Amino acid sequence: KEIQFRYDNANIKDHEINYYGEKVKQCHRALHDKTGAGNDFLGWVDYPLNYDREEFSRILNAAQKIEKTSDVFIVVGIGGSYAGAKAAIELLGHTFHNIVSKEKRTSPEIYFVGHNLSGTYYNHLMEVLKDKEISLCVISKSGTTTEPAIAFRLLRTYMEQRYGENGAAERIYAITDAKKGALRQLATEKGYETFVIPDDVGGRYSVLTAVGLLPIAVAGIDIKQIMEGAKDAYDLYGVDDLFQNPCYQYAVLRNILYGKGKEIEVLASYEPSLRYVAEWWKQLYGESEGKDGKGIFPASVEFSTDLHSMGQLLQDGRRNIFETVLTIESPREDIVIPEDEQNLDGLNFLAAKSLNQVNHHAFEGTMLAHTDGGVPNLVIGLPEANPYYFGKLIYFFEKACGMSGYLLGVNPFDQPGVEDYKRNMFALLGKPGYESLGKALNERLK
Ligand code: PA5
Repeated sequence: KEIQFRYDNANIKDHEINYYGEKVKQCHRALHDKTGAGNDFLGWVDYPLNYDREEFSRILNAAQKIEKTSDVFIVVGIGGSYAGAKAAIELLGHTFHNIVSKEKRTSPEIYFVGHNLSGTYYNHLMEVLKDKEISLCVISKSGTTTEPAIAFRLLRTYMEQRYGENGAAERIYAITDAKKGALRQLATEKGYETFVIPDDVGGRYSVLTAVGLLPIAVAGIDIKQIMEGAKDAYDLYGVDDLFQNPCYQYAVLRNILYGKGKEIEVLASYEPSLRYVAEWWKQLYGESEGKDGKGIFPASVEFSTDLHSMGQLLQDGRRNIFETVLTIESPREDIVIPEDEQNLDGLNFLAAKSLNQVNHHAFEGTMLAHTDGGVPNLVIGLPEANPYYFGKLIYFFEKACGMSGYLLGVNPFDQPGVEDYKRNMFALLGKPGYESLGKALNERLK
């Protein structure tokens, strides 16, 4: 079974796709020969084949140690340094991971921090941590990003007070650049165990490195299977023929629809466990393609929940949207609707049907309604939610993103626009070196 890509409800003619055949070959070469824009950041393409096996074993050992010694595992990171791990744990773990009984999850509670600047969030976190044994991993490629750096300072201080400096060092892991950055220096000085984010892998393409793998392994998920899936995806999506490669077809279809004025892509799913896969996907595509005045706006909805809110706009609002439905063909679990003699709710027509069957009809009915309403539908079908297909899906989306960015004519591996807010924030906070900008901004805010 493979990931399916279907576009029969997209209203696109064959010749529109054929036109892209040669261009896809060119972009494929640029990705594999590392000759295109951003070619310093193409390490993720071959990574499933040549990742560091020694480091991989250390990740497994660290995960075991954390599992044995901790009730809680804290992951500090933002953007590409956290979204992929959260996506995996939500998709493959228990729906109520942190509150279900320990037997059901066989791993520590996991909290993601360092992705916001909310005082309330951190005070509440500290309440949760009381009386629990903690381990922590701090993830930052640059080692200087403000949000995780602040969170790490808060939590490091807390852990050093509780465990002493050496005791805390036994429980803290750092994932960062091999040589550069404040975090690398701090980790060396404090004696933390460290893992590397390779130089040529950008944050949002790093989920298959230690960045994603350590937290995912701590959650008790089989990371060997994830890498197997990614390796098979490398072969499967490594062919340059558009007509044999569903991953490139997805990239092409998005560009065709964008060219027709469909500027918003809504990733829709029918399983709540896919919520963070969608968040990760938004980060990957938004940060990779939104530049030079171009880019599809990636949005997401969770059905059927959002059929009662965003469903109206999708069906009937401005026609600048296309929808990509991410389905799980065989969901992990199911439950049957019981017969009720009195039938006061009138639901006996559903008795003996399973919830997944009802959900599937909701999907089919919605897809046809939205297509009829002028929203082209693409479908990506994941055979099952397991570690192997998660690895495959990650690689599918990364490869499609690289291809899609090249087809659009942008560098999908940089993020120059992310710097602007930081500059203003530093200036307003009075960081040394930003004095005159600070003065000008404060003038404007008066
Ligand atoms: O994709 C990216 O490069 C970004 O989203 C980064 O992952 C994010 O800004 C965090 O950066 P860092 O890991 O350097 O703290």
